[in-house]
Amino acid sequence: MVDSPRVLNIGDLRRLAKRRLPRALFDYIDGGAEGEVTLGENCRVFDTVTLRPRCAVATPSCDLRTSLLGTTLDLPLLLAPLGSSRMFYPRGESVAARAAGAAGTAYILSTLSGSSLEAVKAASSGPVWYQLYLIGGRDVALAAIERARRAAISALVVTIDTPVAGLRERDVRNGISQLLSGNVWSMVPYLPQFLARPRWLAGFLWDGGLMRFPNVVLPNGPMPYADVGVALEQSMVCWDDLQWIRQAWNGPIVIKGVHTGDDARRAADAGANAIVVSNHGGRQLDGVAPTLRVLPEVVTAVKGHVEVLLDGGIRRGSDIVKALCLGARAVLVGRAYAYGLGAAGEAGVTRAIQILRSDLIRTLKLLGCASVTELDPSYVDVPADWRSSPPAGR
Ligand SMILES: Cc1cc2nc3c(=O)[nH]c(=O)nc-3n(C[C@H](O)[C@H](O)[C@H](O)COP(=O)(O)O)c2cc1C
Repeated sequence: MVDSPRVLNIGDLRRLAKRRLPRALFDYIDGGAEGEVTLGENCRVFDTVTLRPRCAVATPSCDLRTSLLGTTLDLPLLLAPLGSSRMFYPRGESVAARAAGAAGTAYILSTLSGSSLEAVKAASSGPVWYQLYLIGGRDVALAAIERARRAAISALVVTIDTPVAGLRERDVRNGISQLLSGNVWSMVPYLPQFLARPRWLAGFLWDGGLMRFPNVVLPNGPMPYADVGVALEQSMVCWDDLQWIRQAWNGPIVIKGVHTGDDARRAADAGANAIVVSNHGGRQLDGVAPTLRVLPEVVTAVKGHVEVLLDGGIRRGSDIVKALCLGARAVLVGRAYAYGLGAAGEAGVTRAIQILRSDLIRTLKLLGCASVTELDPSYVDVPADWRSSPPAGR
């Protein structure tokens, strides 16, 4: 299905995901916080940056390899951490990690996953990073860090933009809280959307039904699947926490959720090896500037002391090219592969990566640039007001 010649772009995978997934799950992936302004802007901003090709330059082959935290990846894109991926497709985290490894890139496993970090690491032939929330407190996090070390996880990703879950209005309307309440009478009005997707339902039941979080082991066992808003509020990451995380983990640390040059510097001072310019895909504070818009400010602020990654709104290879031109070393993609996973599991994730890879090669050839490492600001034009001012509202 995903190999059909009619599946040309990520939007096509999105349509297939919408067909296979119950509405609550599709909206959980597709939606953002409040008015979804930042969600939309994250994508739209790429259209405001235009490309400046060098024509009549032969580029018979294009080199997509990039080095990140001392490792070479075959592609300048990684799969972003997505909580609850196991709900999108049976063993969702493991199949996505396998597709990433096969493509020569890294998979980032969310704390809020339905698969253990050991199983996910074993499923992939490539690097696996672990995204850490402090749910359950420091002792619970320390146990996960120790497991990550033993499982040869390559990097720890600490997400700092989640002091409370954003208000995702689609989730509220679809009854996510009621569905997770355990109260059958509250759930009943929201169940027909699942019965309307028998293929998904069969896979969900085959995979064991409602998952637990095997990487959040509380005193009474793995955390049950629940509305995680409260847990996130009780486990906010502060700059002080980075000191003990730094002591507990001697591998690379990546700080995800940087929105400004000031925080980028702070992350570098706190010992980060890399940062991700990210607004959580527009799922947290609605109204923040799109990530591509703040990328130049962040790149200038860190002066090369840490590696800079970006996520948010990447739907085409040309989006990746624009981010690389403006100083990102690589990007994370979230929804772009989540749609593939929701549509068709591993085959869908593989298709998403293929689409982005062939977009990248075509764009580089059309630009007259032989390697992603040669991309620089001279290949793009940014809107005139970007050159003279920081993002609007600052
Ligand atoms: C369904 C979904 C679940 C997510 N779960 C997490 C998570 O558990 N931890 C985290 O750090 N980011 C999470 N994110 C944010 C992504 O890691 C990433 O920042 C975002 O998806 C990038 O934007 P994009 O989807 O437009 O590519 C999630 C995003 C989505 C769409």
